[in-house]
Amino acid sequence: MTDKIFIDGILKGRVAFVTGGGTGITGGVARALAEAGANVALVSRSMDHLEAATKIINDAHGQDANVGEAFAVAGDVRNPEEVENAIAATLDRFGKIDIVINGAAGNFLCKAEELSPNGFGTVVDIDLKGTFNVCRAAFAQLKEQRGQILNISATLHYLGTPMQLHVSAAKAGVDALTRNLAVEWGRYGIRVNAIAPGPIEDTEGMKRLVPEPVKEKLKKNIPLGRFGRIKDIETAAVFLCSDAASFISGEIIVVDGGQWLLGSRLG
Ligand code: NAP
Ligand code: COA
Repeated sequence: MTDKIFIDGILKGRVAFVTGGGTGITGGVARALAEAGANVALVSRSMDHLEAATKIINDAHGQDANVGEAFAVAGDVRNPEEVENAIAATLDRFGKIDIVINGAAGNFLCKAEELSPNGFGTVVDIDLKGTFNVCRAAFAQLKEQRGQILNISATLHYLGTPMQLHVSAAKAGVDALTRNLAVEWGRYGIRVNAIAPGPIEDTEGMKRLVPEPVKEKLKKNIPLGRFGRIKDIETAAVFLCSDAASFISGEIIVVDGGQWLLGSRLG
């Protein structure tokens, strides 16, 4: 629960459009925004993912009216028309959009020489072009509300990460998009930031990317001595979406316990 860290209702009255909000890290972020008072639209391909996550938030809302409401809308971020429809459905349901969270992503381990053009392109299409599609479709609302965008990036591309060429390229693009949009849309009062999580335990990403035998070795190279928790990303997201961060834009906040700085050097 974020209410032990932030004052109650810090995001009361806001509406967030959250891609990838049905599962994992971004599912946690969506719940945290709702616990902070925002109404949240959860968007991804699978209605099963979205309905389960929506129910948890709406049950909490039923018990405590200070928790925001959730709404599920299916859409693939690779398809601009589906994104526009999801934005329209959110406006019908909640009347406005103040916050966009781009968490939808795809990943798998694959050596560069074995990666097919479609494998590379699929990840770029979801992570980078999907982020652009959502920002573009939400622009009119964000301009009207003087709203903000929070992209979920990564640290893979800060150094060379084996078997992660596709995602490193996509997330480097997400960082570029974060900084460019912060510059271009700042004049409309729109803030654009990103969070770059390190390895976060109990997530699909960790399961796919960090084989069991490598886990302990990886953990030893995290200066703070543990893997990240979804809660670590939730609190950073609530902070960045709140007025406490009202002069922060174009920033990529690394939440990794110092991991990338140590890199492969022995700790
Ligand atoms: P996850 O639970 O698998 O989250 C990915 C989400 O994206 C899912 O909810 C998925 O839902 C959605 N999605 C995938 N393709 C989509 C598409 N084409 N259109 C719309 N939605 C789509 O994995 P996670 O590990 O929590 O990752 C969440 C975010 O954190 C990602 O941006 C990831 O790159 C980033 N990250 C994770 C870690 C980590 O340690 N886990 C580290 C650094 C960065 P559907 O299947 O329902 O579409
Ligand atoms: N190794 C190498 N290539 C792979 C692969 C793997 N493990 N998984 C998929 N690909 C390739 C496919 O072979 C295909 O390329 P091809 O047409 O040349 O054969 C391409 O990627 C697209 O695969 P497909 O399964 O059709 O894509 P999709 O749109 O159904 O799914 C993924 C997208 C592949 C990213 C899928 O893993 C997914 O939906 N991920 C969401 C959850 C996730 O990744 N969470 C972690 C976030 S960090």
